[in-house]
This record gives sequence, structure tokens and C-alpha cells, in this order.
Amino acid sequence: MLRSVEAQADLADQVDFFEVAPENWIGLGGAYGRAFRRITERFPLICHGLSLSLGGPNPLDELLIGRVKQLMATHGALIYSEHLSACTDDAHLYDLMPIPFTEDAVEHVASRVRRTQDLLGQQMAVENSSYYAPLATDISELEFVKAVLERADCLMLLDVNNVYVNSVNHRYDPRSYIDALPAERVAYIHVAGHDNEDDDLIVDTHGADMIDPVLELLDYTYSKIGTRPTLLERDFNIPPLPELLQELGRVRAVQEPYLGRTHRRSVGG
Ligand SMILES: [Fe+2]
Repeated sequence: MLRSVEAQADLADQVDFFEVAPENWIGLGGAYGRAFRRITERFPLICHGLSLSLGGPNPLDELLIGRVKQLMATHGALIYSEHLSACTDDAHLYDLMPIPFTEDAVEHVASRVRRTQDLLGQQMAVENSSYYAPLATDISELEFVKAVLERADCLMLLDVNNVYVNSVNHRYDPRSYIDALPAERVAYIHVAGHDNEDDDLIVDTHGADMIDPVLELLDYTYSKIGTRPTLLERDFNIPPLPELLQELGRVRAVQEPYLGRTHRRSVGG
């Protein structure tokens, strides 16, 4: 895909920024490292972490945060985001596990976000995650997310697909969720495709094209909070680049009427 991206001459007309998992690029040299550098010289970059485990029980991985900070400085990355989930116990679990929606968990996560921000020297963004079997629900998912944002004084990566997926799986109104978010904290947005397992079970896979209801919820989100830089996530079943750009074009078509009213499409804009 790196080669396809480099070979696509008119990419700047179709793509405004890239997002990478920093864990995949830290310390990478050679041909891949050089190709990555050429791309980050042309496009704004966002780092979206996979393994910080903000909700995990183990000590915060400050070594990783230092390495992310260095990568961001090298490539001029604009923001570091992470999931509101846990992915460690005594070791890495290689999956994103839900955090209990409790007051204790809010404090635990918020203190880890504050420490991460102190080490980075800038605000980070936390992402609302998809979840399937909540561990504990003293408060709602929405209350949990809002409390973390407030107590950590951090930004939000709003995953509109995750809002949609959770709203089906846990039967709530996705528009009410969007309405209640602190708009000023939403730094950027994710959209993606997912798998329908049953009428009441959707699995967030990032392996398929987006469905129209997710794009409609994206449209609703823009109408409520204004546009934000918006990333199409695609982790596997990745089609050839021209098809991927067509899919991205569906996001840009939703965004187009709102451009100029608030935030520009491009992170660097
Ligand atoms: Fe996401």
C-alpha cells in the first residue's frame, strides 16, 4: 500500500491526512522507513495508538510514550490518540477490552491520560470504543466518556461508527449520544465499516465498506458540531487504492456542504 500511495500522483486532491499506529513505525528504517518519511513530508500525520492500555491495571508504559513523542517530533505528527479500553494484564492481550463504567475507572483512566499528556507536553485525544459485554455499568457509557474528558482535560476522537455499533448492540439513540457530547473537545472523527452478525449484534471490524446509516450519523454529527478532520478506518479486506479512494469520496461528499462553516477538512488547514 505504501508504494501505491507514493505512485498515486493526484493523491493530494483526494487525501487530506494520514493516521498510523505509532507502534508499527517506531524505529523503522530502511526502504519502508524512507517511504514513510516521504509521505509524512507531503501530508499531515496523526498517531493512533494501539497498546497504551489506558484502562489497564499495569503501570503506564512511559517508555512507549517517550517513543511516541519522538516519532511525533520526527514526522511532525499533530496529535496522539488512544482507545478508551484496556489491552494488557500482565502482558499484552492484543485486543481492546472494555473498561468498567464506574467512578473508580474514570479516575484511573483520567489520571493515566493526564500523565500521558504531561509526558507528551500536549493534549491527547481518547476514542469512544465499541464494546459487547459491559463489565460494570454504575454510570452510562456516555457519562463515562464525558467524565474522562472533563477530568483529564483531554480531547476526544469521536468514532461515529462505534457510536452506531454500540447504539444497536446496547439499544440507545445514537443522535442523543452525539447531542450530549462536548463539541469543543472533539478533535477529529473516525468512520468505518462493520459486520452484521444478527439484528441486535454488530461487530466493529473495519473490514467492510461503510453502511449508509453510519454516513447519515456522520452527517448529523457535522450538522450538530461542525466538520472535523475525518478518517476512514480500514484494517483488512483492504481493496486496491482507487476503490479505497472512492470509499473515502463518500465521506468527503457528506463533509462538502459543511466545509467553510467551521473547521476545514484538512488537519493541517
Ligand atoms: Fe476508531
